[in-house]
Amino acid sequence: LRPDPDAGLLAGERVLITAGPTHEPIDPVRYIGNRSSGKMGISLARAAHELGAEVTLVLGPTSLEPPEGVRCIAVETAQEMHDAALAAFDSASVAICSAAVADYTPRNPADHKLKKANEPLDRIELVQTADILADLSRIKGRRRVVGFAAETNDLLAHAQAKLERKGCDAIVANDVTRSDSGFGSDTDKAWWVTSAGTEELPTLTKDRLAREILRRVHDF
Ligand code: CTP
Ligand code: CA
Repeated sequence: LRPDPDAGLLAGERVLITAGPTHEPIDPVRYIGNRSSGKMGISLARAAHELGAEVTLVLGPTSLEPPEGVRCIAVETAQEMHDAALAAFDSASVAICSAAVADYTPRNPADHKLKKANEPLDRIELVQTADILADLSRIKGRRRVVGFAAETNDLLAHAQAKLERKGCDAIVANDVTRSDSGFGSDTDKAWWVTSAGTEELPTLTKDRLAREILRRVHDF
């Protein structure tokens, strides 16, 4: 077994990672969700732990297991993820937001199961959720904050706009229309976008991409 060339790279760092989807309740049995598997965030958490960091993973609903050695906070909704992430950021030196947070949540979730005969669910009033990445970036000071952008078109333009709008240090831009990238895929084709420019990465497994991201976080 060859020694890991990156061993100890993140020793002393406390890394916060958001991962997975969120579920926004319509009533106690129904929700609005999305296709995120949580794989990328779980790969990041595992890799950061392997590199010697203390890791807190704020994880939305997923069937995947959090890695060994990582503090995992399980959440359901965007609001719960927001509150858990902001609390954990108090003692973090780095934050990486890989979660697919719902952008909208039902304004008034019902407290009982809606019945189709007399409570038709033909429309749901939605309100926007809080932006975790933007809120962490606003209070980060000298701490490093990284976000993701999963796009279907104009990938780099959207990623650069997001970098500025959110105020984070880097965006990992991912073209989810490619067969080697995005939802459910085991590999990703990504670009590393910072104010210094854009770097194209090769198609990598999520574990390898996690390493590449964490090396760049270390080099900031
Ligand atoms: N994000 C977040 N909180 C939200 C929405 C997004 O922390 N409420 C984070 C994601 O984890 C990701 C980044 O912001 O790191 C970009 O998410 P994305 O959905 O691409 O950006 P939005 O600003 O929501 O823009 P849109 O969905 O319209 O493309
Ligand atoms: Ca969004």
